[in-house]
Amino acid sequence: MATTYPLKKLRLGFVGSGFIGHFHLQAMIGVRNVEINGVYSPTPANREKLARAVGDAELGDCKAHDSLKSLLQAPDVDAIWILSPNYTRLEVMQTINRMVKSGDSKIIAVACEKPLARTLAEAREMLRLTEDANLNHGYLENQVFCTPVLRGKEIIWRRAAATTGRPYLARAAEEHSGPHEPWFWRGDLQGGGVLSDMMCHSVEVARFMLTEPGRSRDSLRLKTANGAVASLKWTRPNYVKRLKDMMGNEVDYAKRPAEDFARALLTLEDQDGAELVIESTTSWAYVGPGLRIQLELLGPEYAMEFSSLNTGLKIFMSREVRGAQGEDLVEKQNAEQGLMPVLDDEPSVYGYVDENRHMVECFRKGLTPIETFHDGVAVMEILMALYRSAELGEVVKMPCPELENYIPPVARTGS
Ligand SMILES: NC(=O)c1ccc[n+]([C@@H]2O[C@H](COP(=O)([O-])OP(=O)(O)OC[C@H]3O[C@@H](n4cnc5c(N)ncnc54)[C@H](OP(=O)(O)O)[C@@H]3O)[C@@H](O)[C@H]2O)c1
Repeated sequence: MATTYPLKKLRLGFVGSGFIGHFHLQAMIGVRNVEINGVYSPTPANREKLARAVGDAELGDCKAHDSLKSLLQAPDVDAIWILSPNYTRLEVMQTINRMVKSGDSKIIAVACEKPLARTLAEAREMLRLTEDANLNHGYLENQVFCTPVLRGKEIIWRRAAATTGRPYLARAAEEHSGPHEPWFWRGDLQGGGVLSDMMCHSVEVARFMLTEPGRSRDSLRLKTANGAVASLKWTRPNYVKRLKDMMGNEVDYAKRPAEDFARALLTLEDQDGAELVIESTTSWAYVGPGLRIQLELLGPEYAMEFSSLNTGLKIFMSREVRGAQGEDLVEKQNAEQGLMPVLDDEPSVYGYVDENRHMVECFRKGLTPIETFHDGVAVMEILMALYRSAELGEVVKMPCPELENYIPPVARTGS
């Protein structure tokens, strides 16, 4: 039966109940017309914990399902948020495709966390499976929805670009001291190292800031990619050991390291042939107070800048203040004493609230989101070009057909 839009409410099912699942749940408190009615993840205690948290937030009658199939069959679930690890993406999407096409699932839309997949081939397959099942789709790139980015982009384009010319340079950096679960550190499971894990944010938020409002992202054409990677910190013998102690023996950076630093220089052109540049750097080797996002947008007579650690709220705690380690001040927090920045509303500043509001409203009304799996594919093509450039030590010129089946060196198995 054809769906009648708008739906009164969009009823969600989460696949995954880990770190980002709980962040999305926090964000949904600021979203209207939504319920979270189901969750599936393999460990019963974890999916039940998320279901309880949904109940506590009065965001829905959330059932903890013991299989993906059961979640997809639930009559009170309209859309799926894929929040599971990168290596599970394709299998989850294959199941969704099969069950929707056979009529066993009535879902109408799917949103997927970054990066869309581990390789360009996988990303294209994610898109194909979704469109083949006639599903609406959204790519969950939160930095595009960061409140400072939305506000800054709007002002720059309306006041400054309109009178003096479009912006030509976007700088984007994201750094922290390293991810929280072993699978992130394994190139084969995650798709690469920090370039794949975090530069996916930077290249997309930079493309977003450079895109003229009202135009689609593909109004910008990638011309060249120049990438470099390095292993700066976690291959040092004492940090190899520390990583093993924290993550278990499966993460051995003496034998199988992935890069913990990456740098990118991308050249692009817009629909009128104007030359644009994206400069990006990222690392898992930054030990400051916590996660740091730095963004800049430069044009002929103006500049915008944002740094997530330049917070209005700061707390000082003397050496007499003692307590458990936590992430209650800022994501990937590294200290509990001294002068600490505090992000007073992380789900909003990082963009999760506006991101979820946008996806929910688009899916509820049958509209196309501003970030779709097409953008997820475009991001993956850029990341693969950067890995290839770093591997060759050369600038990669686009289009580059060999990227279609390319696997970054750190993600190759059996090598
Ligand atoms: N936007 C951002 O800034 C941001 C930040 C962090 C992560 N992410 C992305 O979000 C995704 C998840 O990351 P995370 O940090 O939440 O990871 P995580 O903490 O390791 O959580 C992963 C969750 O997925 C579940 N899972 C594992 N295998 C599964 C399968 N086959 N089917 C369904 N669920 C499965 C796990 O289940 P159990 O707990 O039940 O075992 C766990 O609940 C990744 O793609 C990551 O890149 C994005």
